[in-house]
Amino acid sequence: MDKIAIANAAPRLLAWYDANRRHLPWRSAPGAAPDAYHVWLSEIMLQQTTVAAVIPYFEYFIRRWPDINALAAAPLDDVLHGWQGLGYYARARNLHKCARLVAADFAGRFPADEDALRRLPGIGAYTAAAMAAIAFGFSAAPVDANIERVVARLFGVGARLPKAKPRIKALAASLVPKERAGDHAQALMDLGSSICTSGRPDCAACPLAQGCRARRAGNAELYPKKAPKKPRPTRHGWVFWALDSKGRVAIQRRPEEGLLGGMMEFPSTPWQEEPIETSAAIKAAPAAGDWRQLPGLVRHSFTHFHLELRVLLGVLDGRGIKRTWCPPTRLGEYALPTVMKKVARHVDREGSKR
Ligand code: ADE
Repeated sequence: MDKIAIANAAPRLLAWYDANRRHLPWRSAPGAAPDAYHVWLSEIMLQQTTVAAVIPYFEYFIRRWPDINALAAAPLDDVLHGWQGLGYYARARNLHKCARLVAADFAGRFPADEDALRRLPGIGAYTAAAMAAIAFGFSAAPVDANIERVVARLFGVGARLPKAKPRIKALAASLVPKERAGDHAQALMDLGSSICTSGRPDCAACPLAQGCRARRAGNAELYPKKAPKKPRPTRHGWVFWALDSKGRVAIQRRPEEGLLGGMMEFPSTPWQEEPIETSAAIKAAPAAGDWRQLPGLVRHSFTHFHLELRVLLGVLDGRGIKRTWCPPTRLGEYALPTVMKKVARHVDREGSKR
């Protein structure tokens, strides 16, 4: 893009947005004042999650907790429970922490300042910029994966990600208009998800085609250039489906920090790259007992590894193990991550066969 194309980009993009914007539940109507709580909540939910997946969660949250003070007053477990299925649970904990902080220290109003936003729990550089632009109208330049791709193509950025990030950020900032910075950011997001897609960009329909370097070279698919991906390893583990004499299953809370922090789980061995023999797994069980292996396995993929879990089922007398005991029909009352729901379904299917 040359200087003229850069200057033309924002007005063209905004005109396109006015005609083609997606109607999303967190977006204010054209010309209406945005609700910073809605903007914040949606941006946190949209981190690592698709728009389609977020919509029902967003609607549920604002129905149940219509403003930040309501969310701050909610018990953490209710929030984690409402978050179930969205993944990356540290986001839900930080969401709640942030709500409490904004309610207590800022009288329920987010600070209208990118740096101050950046200091709040769960708000990184991207979210602070998105909120500054969308909720407060500052000329900030949030760069998510969609915007990264659009900008890399417009300017034909030759360096690979993640090294190219600072350059792409600076180029994105060069496009931001003084007025309607929030619409501009969301227009780039919409362009990236509908026209400037990763697979088959529809350059013929693009309002920015004129100045676009990649379009001119006919090689939009090559951007953004990326460092080669490391293969995801597979980890293995055993889950203990431990029942007491009343048919209740043992569950426990995971540590606050780390993967699935603070969520509930069935006790298990560590998840490691070397498979663990059945006999070694039985030795690692939460209590001695008559453990029986269920056929089959439970597979789940996390961002950084695939997981294969085998299940041991045992009936214990309940003495000597400090766990929460829950009737399997009532597991829905706990914040169980998807992988553990899969375990419960597997036991439901396989546990009755002998
Ligand atoms: N992805 C992240 N933030 C978004 C927004 N405000 N609109 C659409 N997609 C998004």
